[in-house]
Amino acid sequence: MKSAKDYIIFPLDVPSEDSAKKWVKQLSRHVGLFKVGLELFVRTGPDLVRWILESGDAGVFLDLKFHDIPATVSRAMSGIAELGATFTTVHCGETPAMLKAAVEAGEKKVGVLGVTVLTSVSGADIRQAGFCPEYGEDISRLVMKRAAVAHVAGCAGVVCSGQEAMVIKKAFGKDFITVTPGIRPAWDGVSADDQQRITTPAQAVRNGADYLVIGRPIRNAADPQSAAARIADEIDSVIKDGK
Ligand code: C5P
Repeated sequence: MKSAKDYIIFPLDVPSEDSAKKWVKQLSRHVGLFKVGLELFVRTGPDLVRWILESGDAGVFLDLKFHDIPATVSRAMSGIAELGATFTTVHCGETPAMLKAAVEAGEKKVGVLGVTVLTSVSGADIRQAGFCPEYGEDISRLVMKRAAVAHVAGCAGVVCSGQEAMVIKKAFGKDFITVTPGIRPAWDGVSADDQQRITTPAQAVRNGADYLVIGRPIRNAADPQSAAARIADEIDSVIKDGK
C-alpha cells in the first residue's frame, strides 16, 4: 500500500558523494525515492545508485533526461536497466522512435518516463523558441502532444507539472504515471526559484500526480525532516479524502 511519503521524490541536487550520502541517511525514512540527476551522476556514476538501494528502503529515480539518436539511447538504457532504479527519464523529443528504443532496452526492469516540457519553461519561452503560438498561449497543449508520444511509445508515464497531471490522467488512463516537479508548499517564505508552473503538494496529488519531485522546499528548510513530514501530512490529507 502506497503511503504519503512514497509520493515524495527528493532530488539529490548536490555536487558530491559525501553530501548525497548525508541527505540519504537524513531523509530515507521520509521519502519514497531519491532522484539522482546529472549533477551527481557525472561525479559519482552508478556506484551511488547501488549504494542508495543497498542502504535502505527508498528507491532511485535516475533522472538523466536522455535525448539522442535511438541507437545511442538504447545502448545507454541497457546499462541503466541493470542498476535497479525504479524510474529513469528520456525527453519526449520529436518522434516516438527514441522513446520506443528506450522502453525496449529498459526491458521493464526500469520505468521509462518521458519528459514533456520542463517546469522551468514558460509560455513566453516557448513562443521565443519558435513553436507555433498556440503552444506558447497554452503550454498544456504541447505537454499533451508530447505525453501522447510517450504513451504510444509504451512509456510508464511522463514528467509534467502538477497543473497538467489531471488532463494527462484523463487522456491516457490512471495507470499512466505522472511525476510532477515544480512543487511549492503554500508556506510562508517558500520561493518558486526557477520553477514556472508550480503547484502545492495537495494540488498536485488532487490532480492525480503519482509522485512529486520536491527539492528546495525540503533542502532549504531549517529542519528538512520536519518539512518532509509536513509535506507527507499534506499529501495524506488528500489521500484520505479520496483525492
Ligand atoms: O523542488 P526543486 O525546484 O528544488 O526541484 C528541482 C529538481 O526538479 C531538479 O532536480 C530538477 O532536475 C527537477 N526537475 C525535473 N523535471 C522538470 C523540472 C525540474 O525533474 N521538468
